[in-house]
Amino acid sequence: MNQLKTTSQFDRIKDWYVFQSRIYDLTRWTFLFGRKKIIKLVPFQKNDSFSVLEVGCGTGTTLKYLTDRFPNARLSGYDLSEEMLEVAENKLSKYGERVKLLNEAYTPGKMVKEKYDVILFSYCLSMINPDFEKLLDQAKMELKENGILALVDFHNTDYQFYKDFMEENHITLEAQLLPELEKRFKPESLFIKKGLLGIWKYLLFIGKNSDS
Ligand SMILES: C[S@@+](CC[C@H](N)C(=O)[O-])C[C@H]1O[C@@H](n2cnc3c(N)ncnc32)[C@H](O)[C@@H]1O
Repeated sequence: MNQLKTTSQFDRIKDWYVFQSRIYDLTRWTFLFGRKKIIKLVPFQKNDSFSVLEVGCGTGTTLKYLTDRFPNARLSGYDLSEEMLEVAENKLSKYGERVKLLNEAYTPGKMVKEKYDVILFSYCLSMINPDFEKLLDQAKMELKENGILALVDFHNTDYQFYKDFMEENHITLEAQLLPELEKRFKPESLFIKKGLLGIWKYLLFIGKNSDS
């Protein structure tokens, strides 16, 4: 049953981005706040060599920020939308082997082939309902011990009209992410900030994959 729900959800997301990919970079800087800030919060030094997976990398904006801030990091990005990844490829091909892009859905139960130092979700998990928790479980399995889970995303809103509007745009704003992050990862940095005119709040979270 869950598998079926996930499959139709992925089809819905893929369809949504066929057109949105064309206007994504032109429009999203106006409201996807905190994407540069989350990269600044990643607790590595400029010249460190480490691996990062971004789940739902879209047009590659945050991967680009990562390449600029960490010149020795090895980056991988998953996205299920072919159209979004085409834009990312144009942006990132100049980095060659340093950045790998995969046109695949990140799914619960996926075989773990490699473990990462950092897994990043940037404005991806709020689109996944139901079952976003299962992607966090998967990320936990794919993180090294003491690896870092980094997330920036919508948090909540006090305004019902905005909640309804965002739900129509496939985004859930019910403060649903934070408790599930805190269950799985030990918080190292946590900020809840106001979006435009305080209409919504967004979340920045850095947590460690540590069982202690
Ligand atoms: C709002 S965009 C964010 C893109 C980028 N991370 C950013 O911050 O600009 C969400 C992206 O997540 C992708 N996505 C959603 N669920 C996914 C999944 N399960 N596996 C891979 N990509 C997914 C969508 O196709 C879309 O490109």
